[in-house]
Amino acid sequence: MVAAATILAAVAASADCGRCHVAHLEDWRKSAHARATSSALYRLLATLSRADHARAGQPDDDSCAACHGTEDGVGCPICHAVAGIDEHQGAQGRARMKAAPPDTYFGPIDGPAEARVHRSSASAIHRDERICAPCHDHDVNGVPCCTVLREWRASQTSDFMTCQSCHMRAVAGRNAARDGPSRTIHRHRFPGSDDPDQLRAGWDAQIREAARAGPEVRVTVAVKNRAGHSLPNGEPFAGSVLLRVEALDLAGNALASDERSFGFEMLDAAGSPTVLRGRVARRGASSTLVSGETREERFRLVASGAVAIAVTLWHVPFDPPPAARKWMDDLRAWMGQEKGKENRAWLEEIDGSARSVDTLARPRLFWRLSRSL
Ligand code: HEC
Ligand code: HEC
Ligand code: HEC
Ligand code: HEC
Ligand code: HEC
Repeated sequence: MVAAATILAAVAASADCGRCHVAHLEDWRKSAHARATSSALYRLLATLSRADHARAGQPDDDSCAACHGTEDGVGCPICHAVAGIDEHQGAQGRARMKAAPPDTYFGPIDGPAEARVHRSSASAIHRDERICAPCHDHDVNGVPCCTVLREWRASQTSDFMTCQSCHMRAVAGRNAARDGPSRTIHRHRFPGSDDPDQLRAGWDAQIREAARAGPEVRVTVAVKNRAGHSLPNGEPFAGSVLLRVEALDLAGNALASDERSFGFEMLDAAGSPTVLRGRVARRGASSTLVSGETREERFRLVASGAVAIAVTLWHVPFDPPPAARKWMDDLRAWMGQEKGKENRAWLEEIDGSARSVDTLARPRLFWRLSRSL
């Protein structure tokens, strides 16, 4: 197999490509792909993973780079210095990338203009889901984990939409600002759960029923997944989506409220929820919605005097179950006892990233509707 990181090491960094591909670089810099090794959450989990291996006396785990890349994250060459995809599913259920010849970049354009610094080659795999497969569809320790592509294939959207239709919108623009002709280009922002507009495109909540019954307010909300795969998604943990219903008084204050959370858990060999890939042994409880699914949630709020209800959807980027949090605290304590220099560096990394991770654990509002009673 060719790991993405190996391809990256052999070629240029993304900033170099941006000298000519100005719009692509500007978009990509705001994407999750650009943050794939620098985000606080990644640094936290990569460090925990290394410490976990050290505690167990196992060799260091450097498997993350195969999909997250190195300093440049999932940079331009990782996707464009790829000549083909071997769909054979290996031990971890992954498709493999075939490296391109040196200095040749593969993309969707037939007969591109000449680029002074590299050769170009048209490739069909960049126009469909195959280029996403090596990273966005795999098993962990034999457990189907990040199965976005399999879910999309099973959904009706795959009849008429690819990953690119929803994540790389086509717009009129200039491909290479200096030398290239005007063309239809594809946005490289890759919006996901980090983008409120994309979240609103993926989720829908409608009030089916809202009525007073004595001191109670009865509410039924229909939540729908409008994306091309299950939501929420992720590996091995995902953020979660929170549905909140509030009964409001005349001044708009909440008299009573209730919540439902959508997400899933991965369990370790002992059956405890885990956030570490290395520990995944099976899937646990799941309340994710498959593509196109609508789920009705019923609420009964005790709120006499309520005059209206408000329904909101929130995204929680990092939402580890209590047992997983406790496990992280235990590992941190172990590092505190160990005297080695490496442990100190790990502790600093963990404490630094954990502070920003706390902000990630805060729910972010992306959908709101209300109705008077
Ligand atoms: C000196 C300017 C320049 C630099 C630097 C540059 N390119 Fe290009 N690239 C071009 C031009 C010009 C084209 C052709 C544009 C067209 O026909 O619309 C092109 C085309 C491409 C294509 C489309 C190929 C196809 O057939 O679909 C890809 C992909 C690409 N470049 C990737 C990269 C990557 C990755 C880097 C950085 C490692 C890079 N380029 C650096 C000028 C450049
Ligand atoms: C995660 C994979 C991925 C990354 C990272 C990526 N690209 Fe692309 N790029 C694609 C795909 C897929 C297409 C074709 C989309 C289509 O045709 O539907 C594409 C298309 C292009 C094209 C052809 C013109 C167009 O927009 O269709 C150029 C040029 C290009 N990318 C340059 C870059 C540069 C420069 C970077 C880094 C700043 C970059 N790409 C990062 C996947 C990627
Ligand atoms: C080399 C591996 C790789 C390839 C190829 C790749 N991705 Fe990604 N992608 C990642 C990683 C790693 C992340 C998580 C980055 C982070 O947030 O740390 C990610 C994140 C994303 C996200 C944001 C997810 C979120 O939680 O909001 C979207 C959307 C996405 N990718 C779409 C695509 C699409 C569409 C393609 C194919 C055109 C693609 N990716 C190809 C590795 C890859
Ligand atoms: C019909 C449109 C559509 C198609 C097709 C589609 N997606 Fe998405 N995807 C979305 C929307 C909308 C979201 C944002 C919802 C969210 O993250 O909660 C999303 C979110 C994601 C996420 C983040 C998931 C999460 O819960 O954080 C990833 C990763 C992703 N898509 C990758 C892909 C890949 C890879 C493909 C192709 C196999 C694909 N998507 C096909 C619409 C689509
Ligand atoms: C087979 C490919 C693959 C490997 C190997 C891999 N990841 Fe990921 N990782 C992904 C993809 C794809 C996503 C985006 C998933 C999504 O949002 O649906 C992701 C997302 C993440 C996220 C969430 C990103 C964020 O900022 O929200 C973290 C953290 C993470 N991975 C950590 C790791 C660590 C640590 C390792 C190594 C122990 C690792 N990953 C190995 C593919 C991989």
